[in-house]
Amino acid sequence: MFKRFYPSEMKDSTYSIDFDALYKKGYRNVIFDIDNTLVRHGAPQTEQSLSFLKGLMDKGFGVLFLSNNKEPRVKSFNDPLGAKYIYRAGKPGVKGYLEAVEMLGGTVDNTLFVGDQLFTDVWGANRVGMHTILVKPIDKHEEIQIVLKRILEKPVLRSYARSLKKTSQFGLIGNPVSHSKSPLIHNTFAELRGDNLEYNLYQLEEQELGSALKRFKKLNFKGLNVTIPYKEKIIPFLCGVSETASKVGAVNTLKLTDKGYYGTNTDITGIKRTLRDKEIVVKGREGVVLGAGGAAKAAAYALYAEGAVKVYVVNRTFEKAQALCESLNTSFETDVFTALPLSGVPSLEKGFVCIQATSLGLKGEDALITEDSFYEKISAAMETVPMRTTDFCERCKEQGVKCTNGFSMLLYQAVEAYELWNSCVLNKEQIDIVRSKLENE
Ligand code: ATR
Repeated sequence: MFKRFYPSEMKDSTYSIDFDALYKKGYRNVIFDIDNTLVRHGAPQTEQSLSFLKGLMDKGFGVLFLSNNKEPRVKSFNDPLGAKYIYRAGKPGVKGYLEAVEMLGGTVDNTLFVGDQLFTDVWGANRVGMHTILVKPIDKHEEIQIVLKRILEKPVLRSYARSLKKTSQFGLIGNPVSHSKSPLIHNTFAELRGDNLEYNLYQLEEQELGSALKRFKKLNFKGLNVTIPYKEKIIPFLCGVSETASKVGAVNTLKLTDKGYYGTNTDITGIKRTLRDKEIVVKGREGVVLGAGGAAKAAAYALYAEGAVKVYVVNRTFEKAQALCESLNTSFETDVFTALPLSGVPSLEKGFVCIQATSLGLKGEDALITEDSFYEKISAAMETVPMRTTDFCERCKEQGVKCTNGFSMLLYQAVEAYELWNSCVLNKEQIDIVRSKLENE
């Protein structure tokens, strides 16, 4: 939004510009603003400005003063030098700049503009496509109308300074990743906050994980998200893992440190925030998790942490559900987690909270359980597959059960990751803008 006011470059003073280097690049003419660019506001030529300008002309530069001031001021400044000038130039209007180029016998491409004000000097020069150099004003004490302009310049200068900082790189690793909405989320947060970062997708084969992380570190990627099927497999390649992620045995967010990538699990917080946001009461209830992969681990732990009295894990491969429950029971010194074979589903009592955490639904597949009798017993449901709807959600709705789609968890896990990587706090307005983008995509 401020880009049109950005100078091509910025210097502390007109007198610190390397005109020799610019001459070598092919520039042959310089258009100067006078007041606060070459001398203090209203001051005549000084010894410094005169010898500097003469030196430029000796080097072979054409020099012209383009000022919005009246003729006597501009003429008297030019008299000792005998260069060219335009008074009452009407900056930021383009007419004066084009006329100046013509008077100098140059082109827009071989002419530089040097000035101290963004909204007049720089903007006008940008409009004709000239290389612009913004300099700091010589006099710190300026007239009131200029002081007001300086206040307005501040956000532009801040935004310009941010744009100069190197773009930070972030991304998602997994397989497949092409369906992912994470770039939309992170790049929109960056845009809303004015952060200079880029988030991209990286599809990797399992055998590449270790070498890819080394490459990402070398390229200074500040953070990465991890998705199917690597939320567990990535752990051996990390320099450390947060206590909860380690106990749960799944990681979805990596942050670059001096030693390597450190892993955390923002899926857990994503699920917890969704449950609270949607006012799904877990405390004192039974919970059921469908699936036994990385997302299921986060879901089972989140239900436990929110106070579920029992957490059943149902999975196509029963042994995986057993292993998951055993590992969580051991880590958290409890017996809340219970593996349930698909044949045991009819024995569930009515009123449980259900989290769908298999990968079914991503490609439009049917849900793991298709019997109506299962859905009739659910009190509230949540999907983790990030789609507007899935077969699981549809089946819930058919039985009058409210089901939160996977966008909510996706959004909140991303919020946590973004805040961790960029040491910031996203506000409700920013989160809501991204939420509606996701829903309306
Ligand atoms: P994530 O880390 O996202 O949880 P994952 O570890 O690959 O991904 O786990 C995928 C889950 O979806 C598993 O519970 C898997 O069941 P299995 O353990 O039996 O493999 C489940 N899943 C994937 N495809 C399935 C299918 N066609 N039918 C039933 N379950 C399926």
